[in-house]
Amino acid sequence: MIARRSKTAGADASEPSSDAPLERQLLPENAAIDDLGQLSVAGANVIALAEEHGTPLFIYDEAHIRSRCREARSAFDDGVAYATKAFLCKAMARLVHEEGLCLDVATGGELEVALASGVPADRLVLHGNNKSDAELARGLAAGVGRIVVDSFDEIARLGRLTEDLSPNGRRPSVLIRVTPGVEAHTHEFVRTGQEDTKFGFSVASGAAAKAVAALELMGGVELVGVHAHIGSQVFDVDSFEQAAEVIGTFAAPLGLPELVVGGGLGVAYVNGEHAPTITEWADATRAALDKVGVGAQTRVTAEPGRAIVATAGLTVYTVGSIKELPGIRTYVSVDGGMSDNPRPVLYGSGYEAFLPRATSAARPRSSRIVGKHCETGDVLVADARLPSDLKVGDFLATAVTGAYGYSMASNYNKVPRPPVVFVADGTARVVVRGETTEDLLRLDL
Ligand code: LLP
Repeated sequence: MIARRSKTAGADASEPSSDAPLERQLLPENAAIDDLGQLSVAGANVIALAEEHGTPLFIYDEAHIRSRCREARSAFDDGVAYATKAFLCKAMARLVHEEGLCLDVATGGELEVALASGVPADRLVLHGNNKSDAELARGLAAGVGRIVVDSFDEIARLGRLTEDLSPNGRRPSVLIRVTPGVEAHTHEFVRTGQEDTKFGFSVASGAAAKAVAALELMGGVELVGVHAHIGSQVFDVDSFEQAAEVIGTFAAPLGLPELVVGGGLGVAYVNGEHAPTITEWADATRAALDKVGVGAQTRVTAEPGRAIVATAGLTVYTVGSIKELPGIRTYVSVDGGMSDNPRPVLYGSGYEAFLPRATSAARPRSSRIVGKHCETGDVLVADARLPSDLKVGDFLATAVTGAYGYSMASNYNKVPRPPVVFVADGTARVVVRGETTEDLLRLDL
């Protein structure tokens, strides 16, 4: 037994946790708690970082990210890509490239940031269910390593755009994205493998086979593989196995050199959750593919995002107000909210909160942690547990915010997006600076 379904995967964040301290597994690999109970990440004291850079603040453990990249590289074949949508900035792109991973970019914007970071274009995999002519043309001109084709309209678009490529030039390598018809056990908003989806070509309906035939006839591109992605924050290895079976059965007779099983591996967000490791996911997938005849000559890769970066990051806030409503609940307001972490309001995702000055303290006090935005839905932790001596002015942190936090951040209510620091060997560096009032006004004419 390696997996249990995530509370955060469904809209079930209302279950209060016990007063137990935050579990160690929810902190970055190189987090440490000193004799006073204070938290450090990779040798840097979290309170000192918050004092220096202000709050809200995203803090990442660089070595944690590196070790997840290494695990992904050794678990899958060469070509495994980091899904940049989970968290992307130039430093992050360079870091995963240094670790030998390719980068999955899902839009023209992600493509531009990856290129600006200096990662060679041939290490990029261009995704998207509605790539524009401009995005495809940019990808082709830059020389991206792979394009994952998602629709018949895109096939036609690619046909037009590659017509004029020089006959001696390298033909762009493409993969076809297929939908295996598997319902992953996760929140419906992040489920993608089922038949009723905007993504990819259905295997069951025959669309995938037609797309393969069309791509094989096209002179301008080279079809090198099959791709599928069943969803995100998936805890059940069974779902991955089922999908692998369908994709493998479809792909094996095609004899193409590559098969990409997507991303989607879940991570633990709250006490008591246990996610499979990247290695367990890879082993189960490979075994399922073997069973349906996908041989060792096929390069099997994946594109994890969350599993690489989620637990490496945490967010630090400052408590600005504690409002006790007798007989109802206590509201603890912090200086961020749905603008730096929209996941609770979007998916009902659960998080653990703790005080970095007393990281392993018991948390008997029930409260709702809310942000500073002007709506009731602006909740960060619906049923949080905190130490009893919580006071205004305390730094309060939420764990496991490294994926889909900063990348989904907004300027709602004209709240500036926070800075991001990477810490390694006791040294912190700002990799994304915090926004200023000038940034908020930059686009106004
Ligand atoms: N590959 C493809 C084609 C994807 O669409 C995704 C995620 C990934 C890889 C990476 O999935 P991961 O390993 O990170 O689960 N905003 C949502 C997650 C959306 C994921 C979208 N696609 C959240 O905050 O939970």
